[in-house]
Amino acid sequence: MDYSQLLQKAKDASNKAYCPYSHFPVGACVLTKSGKTYSGCNVENASYGLSVCAERNAIANAAIAGDLDIVAIAVYAQKMENCLPCGACRQIIFEFQKDNEIDVIIQFGEGYKIYKINYLLPEAFSL
Ligand code: THU
Repeated sequence: MDYSQLLQKAKDASNKAYCPYSHFPVGACVLTKSGKTYSGCNVENASYGLSVCAERNAIANAAIAGDLDIVAIAVYAQKMENCLPCGACRQIIFEFQKDNEIDVIIQFGEGYKIYKINYLLPEAFSL
């Protein structure tokens, strides 16, 4: 699975977004060491603060499969190029970093940029 395919899966997932409040559809797709992928989209709520980002729903999907050895996560926002994960999602992604640094793949132009999670969340809290 190359990263452009992973980004395409994130784009596909963004079509499933439930975002009647923000009208800002986002999709994400996790790639694990096994080579499997797990997608998620943002799911909003009338109680706005309960809305869940695409990244966290993709990771929850990997969790339910018992496959949390995350290599990379791609993010695609239909209305914004270079849409980076929010602070809360950076912390959630960081949780699943082991010896490897997780790659965060972000749509940019016709392609993508690769950010290391350590760059996006330096000096992170962890236990
Ligand atoms: N959102 C995501 O799902 N991921 C991001 O990386 C940025 C923001 C969602 C949250 C909310 O449903 C909508 O986009 C607008 O903030």
